[in-house]
Amino acid sequence: MIHAMSEVDDIIGRLTDGETLDEGEFAALVAHGLEPEHAESRERLRRAAVEARKSVYGNDVYVRGLVEISSYCRNNCLYCGIRAGNATADRYRLSPDQILECAEEGYSLGFRTVVLQGGEDPFFTDAVLEGVIKAIKSSHPDVAVTLSLGERGRESFARLREAGADRYLLRHETADADHYARLHPKEMSFENRMKCLADLRELGYQVGCGFMVGSPGQTSATLAKDLAFIRDFRPEMCGIGPFVPHHATPFASEPRGTVEMTCFLLSVIRLVHPRVLLPATTALGTIDPKGREKGILSGANVVMPNLSPVAVRRKYELYDNKICTGEESAQCRFCLRRRVESIGYRLVVDRGDYRAG
Ligand code: 5AD
Ligand code: FES
Repeated sequence: MIHAMSEVDDIIGRLTDGETLDEGEFAALVAHGLEPEHAESRERLRRAAVEARKSVYGNDVYVRGLVEISSYCRNNCLYCGIRAGNATADRYRLSPDQILECAEEGYSLGFRTVVLQGGEDPFFTDAVLEGVIKAIKSSHPDVAVTLSLGERGRESFARLREAGADRYLLRHETADADHYARLHPKEMSFENRMKCLADLRELGYQVGCGFMVGSPGQTSATLAKDLAFIRDFRPEMCGIGPFVPHHATPFASEPRGTVEMTCFLLSVIRLVHPRVLLPATTALGTIDPKGREKGILSGANVVMPNLSPVAVRRKYELYDNKICTGEESAQCRFCLRRRVESIGYRLVVDRGDYRAG
C-alpha cells in the first residue's frame, strides 16, 4: 500500500519544484518541517536550495567587510545588547578617519564591499556620513558602500544615496505588527520600519531586510509572514541569524534560536527567492563552531568578516559570546577563506552585486 504523502512533504516538493507558496503553506512548513519524519524531504529541500544558489551564483561566496562604526544607540530594542537602556554597555564610536582606515584595510585585503554598521547614533548626521561615503567613493570608485545604520528619514536616505551609498541593510525583524511590538519599545513602530524599507527601495538602494530566528514571541504564524514578505518584497539581500540572548537585556533568560531552524529557513528563503544575497551570519557562527559552513551548505552565499579595530570589537556586543572579537581583519579573512574552501566553495572578494533576472 502506498502511503499518502504528508502535507509537509507535499509542500516541500512543490517548493523545490519552483511553485509559489501561500502564507498558510509557509506556516505548515515551519510548524512541522523540523519533525524527524520529514528528514528526507528536508534533505531534498537543502539540496534544491544549494542547486538554486549554484544556478545563479555558481560556487562563489561573497565577502562583505563589516565596520562597526558606533555602539551608541538611541533606541531600546528589547533583544539588543547596545540598547540605550543598557547602562553597563561600554560605548565607543569611530572617528571618520578611523572608519576610513578600516575601509582602506578592507580594500588592501581585496574586499570591494564595505558595510558601515552601527547603532542609531546622533553623532552620525547626514553631513558626517556624506563626508565618509564620499571619501571612500572618491579614493575607491570600485567599492560598493553599504549602510546599516537603522531607521532614518527619507530625506536622510536620499542624501546618503546621493553621496554614493549603494546598499542599505535594515532588518524588518518580524513581518507581524504585534510581534514587532513585543520586540521593540513603544517609540518604535512596525509601520515606520516598513516605510523605511519602501523609501530605500524607491531611492534606488539595493535593500536588505531580515529577521532573527527564535526571537521571543516568534511563532510559525509570524515566520510565515516573514516568508510571505520576502516572497513579495524580493529584497536584494536578506540577513537571518539565530536570536542569541544578551545578559543585560530584558530577554536575558530567553532561549536562543537553533542552528537547525536557521539553516532550514535559509534553504526555504533561497527557494522562495533564488537570487537573494543571503549571509551565513556571525550569530550562526556563534551558536555553532561550524554554523557558517552549515549556512552555506543550506543555501547562503555571503560572509561578513569584521574589519572593526580589534580594540573596540568586544564593545559591539549585540548578543553574548559573539565570535571574531579577538582576531585581526586579515585573520578573519583567512579563517573564512579556509572555512569556505573546506566545503568546496570559492571566496570571492569582488562587489558581488545582486544578479537581477
Ligand atoms: N541576537 C541575535 N541578533 C541580534 N541582533 C540584535 N540583537 C541580537 C541578538 N540578541 C540583530 C538584529 C539587528 C542586527 C544588526 O543584529 O536583527 O537588526
Ligand atoms: Fe573571524 Fe574566523 S571569521 S576568526
